[in-house]
Amino acid sequence: MSRKVTESQSERSEIIFPADSNALGNLFGGRLMQFMDLTGAMAASRHARAITVTASMDHLDFVAPVHVGDLLILKSSVNRAFRTSMEVGVKAMVEDVREQKLRHVSSAYITFVAVDRSGQGIVVPQLELETDHQRRRWEDAGRRREMRAGETLRRKRVRESLTADWHV
Ligand SMILES: CC(C)(COP(=O)(O)OP(=O)(O)OC[C@H]1O[C@@H](n2cnc3c(N)ncnc32)[C@H](O)[C@@H]1OP(=O)(O)O)[C@@H](O)C(=O)NCCC(=O)NCCS
Repeated sequence: MSRKVTESQSERSEIIFPADSNALGNLFGGRLMQFMDLTGAMAASRHARAITVTASMDHLDFVAPVHVGDLLILKSSVNRAFRTSMEVGVKAMVEDVREQKLRHVSSAYITFVAVDRSGQGIVVPQLELETDHQRRRWEDAGRRREMRAGETLRRKRVRESLTADWHV
């Protein structure tokens, strides 16, 4: 089974309030990461039609600050479905409502895993690619997965080798 990219593309908008700001009056980075994670999860869950959990977030760039009062627009799209995991690209922009322009502020690649209610991985549908842009993103996601794989395995082995005492 396969699903089109457009079937799960998602968007979320936020007006930034002072409670989300840091000492400079800009949006706190961790809050932006939360918005990005949520927007990415929308696309992943729509594609998988299942619960998804965040496995990792990488290539997160904070390109420009977001100020209190800004209108933040977040967009997400599944770049590639693997077996139980999916790489989702998330882009955050600020909308200049007077000029009707968008300014890029951050982007990230987030991997989500589809799971059932007991937390077991579920096989997800593959992507049905319709444009050259989607094909390029699909290929890039494959390259990133290869780069990630060795490091993910290495970290997993380190975690397994840690004794319970180490965590106390
Ligand atoms: C993510 C998680 C499901 C992976 O479980 P696991 O036992 O390591 O599973 P596996 O090794 O069988 O990998 C399952 C899939 O996840 C992918 N994966 C695992 N760790 C990953 C990582 N760090 N980055 C990217 N993908 C990862 C694997 O490549 C695999 O994908 P595939 O099925 O498409 O080939 C598990 O670590 C987990 O539940 N983590 C907590 C998730 C969570 O609660 N997130 C919210 C933050 S609090």
